[in-house]
Parts: sequence; structure tokens; C-alpha cells
Amino acid sequence: METTNLSQTADQRRSREPLYQPLTIRGMTLCNRVVMAPMTRGFSPDGIPGADVAAYYRRRAEGHCGLIVTEGVAIDDPAALGDAGLDEKDVPLLAGDAPLAGWREVVKGVHAAGGRIVAQLWHQGVLRKPGTGTHPEEPTISPSGIWGPLGRMTSIAADKIPADPKVGEPMSEERIEQAIDAFVRCARNAIDVGFDGIALHGGHGYLIDNFLWEGTNQRDDRWGGDRVRRTAFAVEIVRRIRAAIGEDRPILFRFSQWKQQDFRATLADTPEELAEILCPLADAGVDVFDASVRYFNRAAFEGSPLSLAGWARKVTGKLSMAVGGVGINQGVYDTGKKAAAVDNVELLLDRFEAGEFDLVAVGRAMLGDPHWARKSRQGEAIRAYDAEVDLRTLT
Ligand SMILES: Cc1cc2nc3c(=O)[nH]c(=O)nc-3n(C[C@H](O)[C@H](O)[C@H](O)COP(=O)(O)O)c2cc1C
Repeated sequence: METTNLSQTADQRRSREPLYQPLTIRGMTLCNRVVMAPMTRGFSPDGIPGADVAAYYRRRAEGHCGLIVTEGVAIDDPAALGDAGLDEKDVPLLAGDAPLAGWREVVKGVHAAGGRIVAQLWHQGVLRKPGTGTHPEEPTISPSGIWGPLGRMTSIAADKIPADPKVGEPMSEERIEQAIDAFVRCARNAIDVGFDGIALHGGHGYLIDNFLWEGTNQRDDRWGGDRVRRTAFAVEIVRRIRAAIGEDRPILFRFSQWKQQDFRATLADTPEELAEILCPLADAGVDVFDASVRYFNRAAFEGSPLSLAGWARKVTGKLSMAVGGVGINQGVYDTGKKAAAVDNVELLLDRFEAGEFDLVAVGRAMLGDPHWARKSRQGEAIRAYDAEVDLRTLT
């Protein structure tokens, strides 16, 4: 097994303790600021997370990860899930007796190990290839039936990119209601089985993001228009989830500038534009903004070194979470070099201690080593992420 000891001697090493301070968000108290990023794994046949999935998440809690955000869990909408270009299979569900019983065990294990866990609610929106998934007969849904502009830098395989960007019809008012209801129903299910809160997948070109981005939302009714109007769908989901789950449980909201359809897409080109999108969501009940970027320390806008998580915190006054390249030398989707472990926690601490963000999500490095949080704190050798092994098995 390849391990990398990147630690310095104890007295050379800068203290990482600031990252290991507790944080209370509504009724949820985390023992530290290290979060497992949401990562689709595909080990839940028939949508049911089994004992292996429970053990996989429990290992991260045992490794002192303060909060786990589950892999994307399909909401109870017939068009939520299909082939979205990433070879998705065996994605877990959040409705029905067997999936919910499975999640109950997952949560129990994480809690027994002292961890906290929130469920990431996911609807693939326009990225679901029509005719695929659990209900192949169901049309793919999106605000305007538009996949997005073609010919952009994309992570979608060439044979999965539609020839015509018009892939369906705009969602009707009834269909929008139906999708919102499914989000709310699944949020309630998540809380019923013991999850500590809700995470919404509002990025990467999936359904919620389809409404936020003008490349996929060209409506001129109450669900579209300028930036603020394009938040209406997300705001309604957050508002109704908040009403359904009460005041005690946090809501995390993931957003991204980039889309799988267009890596260079932006929702906002200035902090003011970012505020137009995030402030209505903050008002609706979001507690933590999870700014999905590929490198946590990239400047979000010209003229300031602040990251997107930093700006999210600054413009909303809410908590924010950084992610992207923590403990690993390449951004997700970079193919040029082999992933290797790197100790960049000091760079992270510079920003964290300056108050730029409140939480730090670790993705692939946490797949490589379930005890990443504990070992990074103590300067122990960390097992490096190996895609060949770590994506094929529940290590
Ligand atoms: C295998 C894999 C699956 C992922 N699945 C999801 C997902 O279900 N939901 C999501 O919001 N992001 C997903 N992501 C993105 C990660 O949450 C994270 O933002 C990204 O990997 C960057 O963090 P890292 O550099 O620490 O790996 C996935 C990433 C990987 C590597």
C-alpha cells in the first residue's frame, strides 16, 4: 500500500488545531471543521445502501471527519436519475422502506462513532439522458428543455453530448411543483431516518443549477429572467424544506460556477452578481454555502485573492465551505498528471484563519484514507488516493 509521509518534525509543523475546533450550526454540533465531500459511489443495488456502505461512512467518522455529506442521493422524482454521462449505477434512493432502512443503519453507525451526517439530495435534470434510468419512459426535465450551449469545454463524453441542444420541453408549472415536492418529501424522509441535516446539490449542471444558469434557463415566467428570478426554483425548495424540517436542522447548499456542459460557464462575474444569487437563498433558509471549485485557493473574481467560498461568506453573512484539491495535487477532472498526495493544509490554514471559510471539504483524499482528518492533524502518514482502487471498491 502506498503511503506518503508528508509531515515535518513536530516543532517545525504549524498547528492544525484551528481546523479541529467544534462548530454548532443550528442544532448540529460538529467536533471539527473537516468534512467529507459528497461523492457518488454506486454501491447501492436497487437504491439500497447496505452494510458495506454503512461501514464505509462509519470509517470516516471513526477517522475523526467532523461531518459527512453523503454521495448524491436521488430524490423521489421519476426523472431524477439515469445516465448522466458519468457511468452512474446503483445510486442510492431516499424513499421506500428498504432504502430508508439502509440509511437508518448508515446514520446509526456514523453517530455511534461520534460523527454527523447530512444527505445530499440530487436530481440530474437536463443531464439525464432521455430513455435511461429507473423510469426510462419519463421525459427528462429542465426549465427550458435546453442542454446548454454546445462546443464548450466539457467533461461529458462526446457520444453523450446531444447533437441538438434542444432536448425536451420546458417544464410545466405542474411538473415544477412535482419536482419541488419530491425534494421536500425526501428531505423529510432524511430527517425521519436520523440525518443531521440536508445538503442540496445546486451545482455542476444538474436540475437546480439548470434553473440558476442562463445557459439552461431561458424562461420569462416567475421561474426565469434575471439572476434573482432564476433563483426562484432553488429558493422555493429551500423555503419549503425549511418549513418541513423545522428550525433545528441545517441546510447546506452546493453551487458552482462551472457546469459539466461548460467548464468555463459562470453564474456571476462579480461579487455583486454573486450576491444576487446567494442572498435570496440565504434568506430562504440556507445555513452553509458549499462553493464547489476544483482548487480551493483560486481567486473567484479579478482584483481580490478571495476564493468563491470566501465571497459566499462575505456577501451572505452565512457560513461557507471550501473544497477542491485539499490533500491532493490535481483538481478533479484534471487528467494531465497522476494524482498524488500533497500536504497543502498550511495554505488552507492561511485562509481559514483569516476567516475566509468555516468548513473544509475533502473529496478524493478522504477516499484514499478514511482516517485523513485524524492523520492530518497528527502528522501521520496518509494513504494516497488511487483511483484504480478507490473508485472500484468501498475502501
Ligand atoms: C468519485 C467522485 C464522485 C463525486 N460525486 C459527487 C456528488 O455525488 N455530488 C457532488 O456534489 N459532488 C460530487 N463530486 C465532487 C466532490 O464532492 C468534490 O467537490 C471534488 O471531488 C473536489 O474535491 P477533491 O479535490 O477534494 O476531490 C464527486 C467527486 C468524485 C471524485
